[in-house]
Amino acid sequence: MKKFEIAVIPGDGIGQEVVPAALDVLRTIAEVHGGLKFEFAEFPWNCDYYLKNGKMMPDDGLQILQGFEAIFLGAVGNPAVVPDHVSLWGLLIKIRREFEQVINIRPAKLMRGLQSPLANPKDFDMIVVRENSEGEYSEIGGRIHRGEDELAIQNAIFSRKGTERAMRYAFELARKRRGHVTSATKSNGIFHSMPFWDEVFKQVKGDYPDVETASYHIDALAAFFVTRPHIFDVIVASNLFGDILTDLGGAVMGSIGIAPAANINLNGKYPSMFEPVHGSAPDIFGKGIANPLGQIWTAQMMLSHFGEDEIAQKLLDAIEEVTADGVKTPDIGGSASTREVSDAICSRLKAL
Ligand SMILES: NC(=O)c1ccc[n+]([C@@H]2O[C@H](COP(=O)([O-])OP(=O)(O)OC[C@H]3O[C@@H](n4cnc5c(N)ncnc54)[C@H](O)[C@@H]3O)[C@@H](O)[C@H]2O)c1
Repeated sequence: MKKFEIAVIPGDGIGQEVVPAALDVLRTIAEVHGGLKFEFAEFPWNCDYYLKNGKMMPDDGLQILQGFEAIFLGAVGNPAVVPDHVSLWGLLIKIRREFEQVINIRPAKLMRGLQSPLANPKDFDMIVVRENSEGEYSEIGGRIHRGEDELAIQNAIFSRKGTERAMRYAFELARKRRGHVTSATKSNGIFHSMPFWDEVFKQVKGDYPDVETASYHIDALAAFFVTRPHIFDVIVASNLFGDILTDLGGAVMGSIGIAPAANINLNGKYPSMFEPVHGSAPDIFGKGIANPLGQIWTAQMMLSHFGEDEIAQKLLDAIEEVTADGVKTPDIGGSASTREVSDAICSRLKAL
C-alpha cells in the first residue's frame, strides 16, 4: 500500500467549496485503486486567520509544510478584508519561492462536452511550462525622484541555470507526450535576455534530437493560441510570458474554473504545490455553484506527479465523461452544483 501525506490548504472563498469536493474524489480514487492511501492534514490558513493573527500562516508554517509530500491548495484572497498583495505574498508566493517551486505547469485542452469560445478550436491539447522563479518577476530594480523626474527601473533576471532547467523540463515532458516543444521568445524586441533565451534553447534542443521544435515571438504565439491552438504540444516560456499564455489557455478551454496548475520543486528538498488557476471568486462564494473541475484536474496532476499515471488518466477520462453527459456548473453552461459535479465524477470512478 502506497501512502501519500498531503497538506491541504483550502484558503479563502470558493477554495473552501472546491477543495472538499476534490478531496472526496481523491478518497474515491484510493478506494477504487486499492493500493493507494492518502492522509490529508488540513490547515486553516487564509484571510480569516490573518484577521485573528496578523499573519497568513504561523511563523513555523513553512517548516510544518516541509514534511509533506505535496501541498494541495484552493485559492487565497479576500480583498474586502485583506489587501491582495498581503494575502498572496504572505502565503501562496511565499510557499512558491521558499520551496523552490521553479517550474509551473498548466495544461489546456479541448474537453469533451465543453464549449470553447473559439469558432474553430479543433482538438487542441497543450501544456505550458512556465519558468517560475526569475525572469521578469524579480525584485531587482528601484525608483528614484518623484513627480516629473520620477524614474522606475525593473530588471528581468535570466540565469543560465534557471532558463536551461525550464527548457529541459519541457523537452523531457514532450518526450512523454507528442514530442514537440515550442519556445516563446521575443528576441526581435528584447535586446539581451531573449537572444540569450534563444541561444540556450538551441543548445538544449541539441540534446533532444528526437524532439521537434518551433520558436515564435510571444505576440504571434498568443495569436496562434486563438487561431490554431492544435499546433502546440509543450510550450516553454519565461515567467511573464507563461503567466499570460496560461490565462489565455484557460480562456480558450471555456472557463477559468476548469484550469489546473502545478508548482513543481525539482530538487526534492521541498514539496510541490498543486492549485487551480482560478482565485477565490468572492462573487460566487457561498452559492454552491463553483466549478470544481479546476481543483479536481489539479488533483489529477498531483497523482501524475506521484507517478500514478494510470489512475490519473482514468480520472481525466471520468472528468470528460461527466462534462460530456452535461453535468456542468453554470460557468460552463450547466445548472449542476459543485457537489453534483464531484459526486458524478465519484460515481463514474466507482463504475470503472
Ligand atoms: N492562486 C490563487 O490563489 C489566486 C489566483 C487568482 C486570484 N486570486 C485571488 O482571488 C480573489 C478574487 O480574484 P479575481 O476575482 O480576480 O479572480 P477569480 O479567479 O477568483 O474570479 C474571476 C472570475 O471567474 C469566476 N470563477 C473563478 N473560479 C471559478 C470557478 N471555479 N467556478 C466558476 N466561476 C469561477 C469568478 O466567479 C469571477 O467572476 C482575489 O483576492 C485574488 O487576489 C488568488
